Amino acid sequence: MDKFIIEGGRRLFGSVRAQSAKNSVLPLLAACILTEERVTVRETPPITDVACMAQILRELGAEVVFRDGNAVVDSANAGDHRISSSLTKELRSSVFMLGSLLSRFHRAVIAYPGGCDIGLRPIDLHLNALKRLGVSICERDGYIYCECEKLTGAEIVLDFPSVGATENILLAAVEAEGRTVLEGAAKEPEIVDLQNFLNAMGANVAGAGSDVIVIEGVKKLHGAEYLPVKDRIEAGTFLIACALCGGEIEVSGVKSESLGLLLHKLRENGCKIHTKNDKIRIASYGRLKCNRRIETMPFPGFPTDLQAQMTALNSVCEGGALIVENLFETRFKYVPELQKMGADIEVKGRNAFVRGVKGLHGASVTAGDLRGGAALVLAALGAEGTSEVYDLSHIDRGYSDMQGKLKNLGAEIKRVRV
Ligand code: UD1
Repeated sequence: MDKFIIEGGRRLFGSVRAQSAKNSVLPLLAACILTEERVTVRETPPITDVACMAQILRELGAEVVFRDGNAVVDSANAGDHRISSSLTKELRSSVFMLGSLLSRFHRAVIAYPGGCDIGLRPIDLHLNALKRLGVSICERDGYIYCECEKLTGAEIVLDFPSVGATENILLAAVEAEGRTVLEGAAKEPEIVDLQNFLNAMGANVAGAGSDVIVIEGVKKLHGAEYLPVKDRIEAGTFLIACALCGGEIEVSGVKSESLGLLLHKLRENGCKIHTKNDKIRIASYGRLKCNRRIETMPFPGFPTDLQAQMTALNSVCEGGALIVENLFETRFKYVPELQKMGADIEVKGRNAFVRGVKGLHGASVTAGDLRGGAALVLAALGAEGTSEVYDLSHIDRGYSDMQGKLKNLGAEIKRVRV
């Protein structure tokens, strides 16, 4: 187990390039099993969620190697359709395997998925959609057993634009017989990326990025080589870090449209932001102002995956902020850790009331989930004195070499064995 030791109070300067998006790479890897031919997903970030997804593919009989930063997946010999509970509990994205396993083998058995402890995270929308495509599902002893004679295209309406359910439907429907029309789809950029990837493999999917996605089933998919979109959440985390510490940085790789509302909120704080192509420049000087209200919503709303980082930022701004978390029930678990650093935040259900303080002070804190952990690192970077952030396994799930990238920007951060 490692910890970060952070000496706060350094301004950030320089540039950083975003990694490939975790939330793209994971469903893309799940999609690799749809074909017997070789698939290369380029520039896969060395994060533990990716390693875990690779392990799941290997357990199913696929060969996965990481070469020059790319994942090369050969699932010609994949034959198993069951994923052990130890792996599914590690990684919520293992649920995508339902769609791709059903496409390839017409059978799938997985344990109930795990992931960050941020709320109930049911998968009823996934299962109901799969039923519409002709899958029989039986849930027993913590496992989900799915099978079908064949998958048949259908009209599916999602009551809520779930990212994972949308992706699972795409994966299940690409090789179904006939046309699937999905209404109420999630519109995240990572859904568009999955559509583009599947089409590069020979699928016929259109409409991703809008409410309605139409999938014409094809007989067979083939191999492909694909470069995923960059990680808007990692990029957003660095922008917020600069806002909080002060300084001027440039984040590249991410289009401003994918971070629209964040950039608006950072301007509201008083940051200067310039965007050009896939580069975003931020400058932050002097004390910033609190955002009056930030409310998380499905894309294009404010991303829940940046909520914790923005709470950390607001905790040192002038005034007060209301942060409303609409997506997950218990996504304020990091708040008691921020309070150890002097933050003045009151949580009531899905609302956090932040009263900005002049500054935070260093403390020993523990990451409890991926984005909450990132928020603690940001708070420590902006705090006066030394902080220790424990349990980096959560942060390692989604950020590759976070300390190296922050160090390059001028932060004083060390990673040491506990
Ligand atoms: C994905 C992202 C995650 C992000 C989230 C919301 C990946 C690997 N993860 O997670 O980083 O925080 O989108 O942007 O891409 N729900 C149901 N029933 C279902 C499915 C979801 O009630 O069957 C609810 C969830 O409990 C949650 C909300 O819908 O309250 C959003 O979940 P969803 O969009 O599915 O998120 P994930 O795909 O799990």
